[in-house]
Amino acid sequence: MEERVANGHQVDTRSTAHFLHDYASEQADLRRLYEQAKIDQWNAATDIEWAAPLEGDGGLISDDLVDIHGTRFWDAMSEADRVELNHRITRWRLSTLVQGEHGAMLLCSQLVDCVQGQDAKLFQATQVADEARHNEVLQRYLELRLDGETYGLGGNVKEIFDTLLSTSSWYLKTIGLQLVAETFAVSLFRMLAESSKDPVLRQVCRRILQDEARHMGFAMLSLPEIVGQATEAEHREMEDFAVWALSRTLGGIFPLGAYQDMGFGKAELDEIKQFRRERAAGGDETAFRKYFRRDLHDGLVRNLRKVGLLTERITPSLQSFGIKLAA
Ligand SMILES: [Fe+2]
Ligand SMILES: [Fe+2]
Repeated sequence: MEERVANGHQVDTRSTAHFLHDYASEQADLRRLYEQAKIDQWNAATDIEWAAPLEGDGGLISDDLVDIHGTRFWDAMSEADRVELNHRITRWRLSTLVQGEHGAMLLCSQLVDCVQGQDAKLFQATQVADEARHNEVLQRYLELRLDGETYGLGGNVKEIFDTLLSTSSWYLKTIGLQLVAETFAVSLFRMLAESSKDPVLRQVCRRILQDEARHMGFAMLSLPEIVGQATEAEHREMEDFAVWALSRTLGGIFPLGAYQDMGFGKAELDEIKQFRRERAAGGDETAFRKYFRRDLHDGLVRNLRKVGLLTERITPSLQSFGIKLAA
């Protein structure tokens, strides 16, 4: 009998589990990362000061991250409406993140099976627990500050994780998750940890950031060897997969539901979207966004180069995403 969950969706997967018969450590740097992962464990229930009060006007993320901040729409809003919009945009952003953390947990549980070395398996087992904690801590935050409701599976989250879950090779999964999505996560959580108004959110993001940096490290330690040994065709497949993952991860998504809930009509929404596009294209972004973008692009170039996937063949694609290679 096929069982289906009511509040979710199914992805059919096919993969190979490698059951090892020898448990000696064979990759010292990955073993060190595993040891670090054990030291760095924390408890979402008790290691966050959940009772810390709100500060300032009660907003959660920085107003800089609300698209209409600094426009006539913002100027026309009452103080209370600005705080409410800040809360709705926060709910929208954290919805995408809590969903992504859930997807990462599912994906890493597959990686425990399909990575081939003992040290990689042990590390992936820790990443499953890390992603479970991230899924939990963001849900706890949503319940504390925003009644626990989330916006529906948004943006490219479904496409990214459905594709990664149904891809059978571990290294493509790792290119999509630990190399691309988690390099993105490191920059995003760093920015939120530094810019958020709510001290609880800053703490949550700082904690997650520490784990995500380690997950990104898994890509740096596990990919160079397999990329180096790849045939020309396999190398191209890896490059193309990285470009696909970049296009989906970097494609900005507009928090439409949050604005609709505030009562913005279609004409106003069109104007806001246009404003958002112009500001991004003209480089006229707020300080936090600019910092995030530079940090992210530098990180992506550095990491792609480190694992051996920054080739001339994919350079035009990177440039089309606005990534400068001089970094
Ligand atoms: Fe995570
Ligand atoms: Fe992660």
